[in-house]
Amino acid sequence: MRELTYQQHIQVYDRADELPAELSSLLQKAHEATQTAYAPYSNFKVGAAVLLENGRVVIGSNQENASYPAGSCAERVAIMSASAQYPNVKVKALAIAIKAETLTTTPVAPCGICRQTILEYEMAYRQNIQLILQGETGEIYRIDSAKTLLPLYFSQDDLK
Ligand code: THU
Repeated sequence: MRELTYQQHIQVYDRADELPAELSSLLQKAHEATQTAYAPYSNFKVGAAVLLENGRVVIGSNQENASYPAGSCAERVAIMSASAQYPNVKVKALAIAIKAETLTTTPVAPCGICRQTILEYEMAYRQNIQLILQGETGEIYRIDSAKTLLPLYFSQDDLK
């Protein structure tokens, strides 16, 4: 028997202005995108902003539904919209921010389905996507890839 050990590293920033300028601006756009959330059931508003290799930014927000599973997370709305509007353009980074009924001061990480979705675009373009996470306020997590959040991930490479 032997064990496999996975080690993940996350960079923690106290303030947005410590990030590279394009990433702090992306995070600001994710905060603004929380205002576009349609979240009448949870009142948990999530904003996402995707930075593409061509410099374009595409935003998304969570879109809920009376049939709860029909709703979609902000991250998927943003990254799928980016892929639809700019097919074949690589994704550099994705920022996520929260506006809830009570103040969220810790970063909220993407759900499992969103991690898998972000990973798909990393694998398609063979380029990591940086993740920038913040609550409504408080410290910021900078993560180099969706793979960091998905040890033992399943991808298109497994289908070959
Ligand atoms: N949500 C997101 O948009 N992104 C996440 O990473 C976690 C959850 C949304 C889904 C739902 O509209 C609300 O937050 C509460 O789960």
